[in-house]
Amino acid sequence: MSESLTKSVSKPINSQIREITDSDLIALGELLDQSFIPKGGSHYFDDFPVWKLRCSSEMKRLGVFDSSGVLLASASCRLAQVRVVGIPERTPIAIIGAVATSEAARGHGFASQLVEALAKWADSRGAWMAVLWASQYEMYHRIGFDLFGEQSRVLVGDLPFVENSLTVPIHHGWNPNLMRHFLIRTEGVVHSASDSEWISKHKNVQWIWSGDPERPSAFLAYNRGIDLPEMIHEWGGQRDAIKPLISTVAKAQPNLQILLHPCHKWILELTPYQLHTEHLGMVKVFSRMKTNPLFAQFSRLSDSEWISTVLGSPENSAFLPIWFWGLDCA
Ligand SMILES: CC(C)(COP(=O)(O)OP(=O)(O)OC[C@H]1O[C@@H](n2cnc3c(N)ncnc32)[C@H](O)[C@@H]1OP(=O)(O)O)[C@@H](O)C(=O)NCCC(=O)NCCS
Repeated sequence: MSESLTKSVSKPINSQIREITDSDLIALGELLDQSFIPKGGSHYFDDFPVWKLRCSSEMKRLGVFDSSGVLLASASCRLAQVRVVGIPERTPIAIIGAVATSEAARGHGFASQLVEALAKWADSRGAWMAVLWASQYEMYHRIGFDLFGEQSRVLVGDLPFVENSLTVPIHHGWNPNLMRHFLIRTEGVVHSASDSEWISKHKNVQWIWSGDPERPSAFLAYNRGIDLPEMIHEWGGQRDAIKPLISTVAKAQPNLQILLHPCHKWILELTPYQLHTEHLGMVKVFSRMKTNPLFAQFSRLSDSEWISTVLGSPENSAFLPIWFWGLDCA
């Protein structure tokens, strides 16, 4: 066990790490509900169904179990590929989520051990990096994660085009034909048609779209309950149809925020003073990425300089401008 992990161990618990199988799913759901405390009778899996239903790519769920088989801690990881604007190749990555430890078992290093094990697994499966979204910066930093990337938020009511834009007829609710927009995205995680199973199962997400039901021209989705309330975290479609759709929603709900990547700013005619800009998430970069000839010019940089130069930060534009849409941010 590394020095960083021994630091957090207070009293020993007889435990073992093993894979979480489908027969452990009830226990996993209970642990996640107790740890994340979703509001209004909702459940963790209502906002993160991917960890229950699985996605189209490989996934691993690990748990710490006590000697009676009770699940004390969990973490999950899925492999994915990301399209990055301006780069023809797809980048293999791992997404980590569903990290939780039951209250009585906290501070024993369980979450850190599980995330480290999943990062090693992702590295062995060829990922360039592992990403996660969390507020426990110190804990993840101790096991090699750093803040990376850039995302901006803006109130839709402040968008310059909203006032002068006409409203359009809108439809509510998931429409399977929206999946087409997920498949043709030029940035973010690459999906396949079978991912519609978990994408459509987000119970708190509000889907809004315009156009022909057989071929919606634009869509947006907001309100993943636990971590993206009141935020438009996905949108897409034909550019001339996106703005009227945003305007229509903004007139009814001006306090919604929209999440944006720097490559989206021109679409929304934003000027910097309107934006709240922050890091996108946390990342652990594996050596296969660092030594890739694509990044040779950065080989002399320190780890933190490398991340903010290659993957960007609110202060630095990225060499590899990577973006994750909300539903992929586990
Ligand atoms: C965060 C969590 C998974 C940590 O589990 P754990 O098994 O106790 O983690 P470890 O023992 O490996 O590490 C504990 C460290 O995390 C820190 N930590 C825990 N919760 C934290 C929080 N909300 N903010 C900041 N740090 C936190 C602890 O202070 C501790 O640091 P220390 O060793 O310097 O005291 C657990 O507290 C939890 O389930 N929280 C609720 C769900 C959640 O927020 N999950 C993470 C989302 S990715």
